[in-house]
Amino acid sequence: MSFNHSDIRLQFPILKKGTYLDSAATAQKPQVVIDSMKHFYETENANVHRGMHMLSEKATTAFEEARTSVQKFINAKSAEEIIFTSGSTEGINLVAKTWGKENLGEEDSVLITLLEHHSNITPWIQLKDENDCAVEWVELDQNENIDITQLDKHLANGNVKLVAITGQSNVTGVRTPLKEIINKTHEAGALALVDAAQLSAHHPIDVQDLECDFLVLSGHKLYGPTGIGVLYGKRELLESMPPFLTGGGMIKEVKRDHFTCAAIPTKFEAGTPPIAQAVGLRTAIDWLLQFNWEDIEAHERSLIEKSFSELRKIEGLTILGPSDPKNISGCLSFVIDGIHPHDLTDIIGQKGVFMRAGHHCAQPLHEHYGIPASTRLSIGIYNNGEDIEKITPAIQEAIKIFS
Ligand code: ALA
Repeated sequence: MSFNHSDIRLQFPILKKGTYLDSAATAQKPQVVIDSMKHFYETENANVHRGMHMLSEKATTAFEEARTSVQKFINAKSAEEIIFTSGSTEGINLVAKTWGKENLGEEDSVLITLLEHHSNITPWIQLKDENDCAVEWVELDQNENIDITQLDKHLANGNVKLVAITGQSNVTGVRTPLKEIINKTHEAGALALVDAAQLSAHHPIDVQDLECDFLVLSGHKLYGPTGIGVLYGKRELLESMPPFLTGGGMIKEVKRDHFTCAAIPTKFEAGTPPIAQAVGLRTAIDWLLQFNWEDIEAHERSLIEKSFSELRKIEGLTILGPSDPKNISGCLSFVIDGIHPHDLTDIIGQKGVFMRAGHHCAQPLHEHYGIPASTRLSIGIYNNGEDIEKITPAIQEAIKIFS
């Protein structure tokens, strides 16, 4: 479908409430996504894989069709390689607490980078504490991307068993060279996990082309509902891993003193899964895929470039990360001399421009920049040039209040 931007914008009812520039925290939902979940609850709601009645069959079909949509969206080989989770955080924890717990010991390490969100840091620190493995870090190079020379050095040591890396920073908007890193990871005999929470709404993902071993994403950052995410894993890995949560739905057989697990993906979906959310996620994916990725990326690139030149008009403002907006996607973060990011973001929020302030769940990266917090501007498909033009006047007014 053609990329008619004013029409796209009209499909997001909440945009009437203000200038939303916080899509990296959660994206807004088009009306069709909201409607699909309402329709599901009104006409198809039942538990899945359990009942023998018509509603349960409908709900099960809708749930499994959503899995197939995700499979196609990331080009996984089979739908069984798609595990529904509550979000990216749960997906990474699942891998750390099953595959990681079984496969990493004193001699081994997990390699992560300074661009990671806490959800791709803390599960590995916990694993280090429990299994005595190491967590090693790749720092940034002069282009503010990850330092490949350092990555090579770590991989050459021979003890790295997993490289866990974001596809796109939620602070600086830097995209990591995933294919190159995954190739190097495999050459070193390690596995690669990709955190695609930030990447998935802004760039196509092809897990077979990437050859990643695991990948996680979150529905709510993809114009879908909260409460649902995806863990992709290569079949042989998922089959070899123990279950994460146990209980109803994930078993083959339960006796008084032991149980056996169902096949994947069910093995990893204990309890009632996020059914209506899966319906919403499927609708969000179908909605997004009606557009060309080239059009989405060109539109978002122009917004980031415009944001960059607007922000550069403000004296005392420093943008974290790359100095060339071509190396930034989805979001950028900044600080202003003499104004705390929380105060700034609060004031501009009162003027109807909604951004996020804080460390954005990336404290090690903020520590690297020598600051406790920043203000983040992040975009979605629905933003336009007028949204970006509202930023500078709102910040200038805030600066006047503080000076
Ligand atoms: N991970 C989300 C963010 O960066 C919440 O804002």
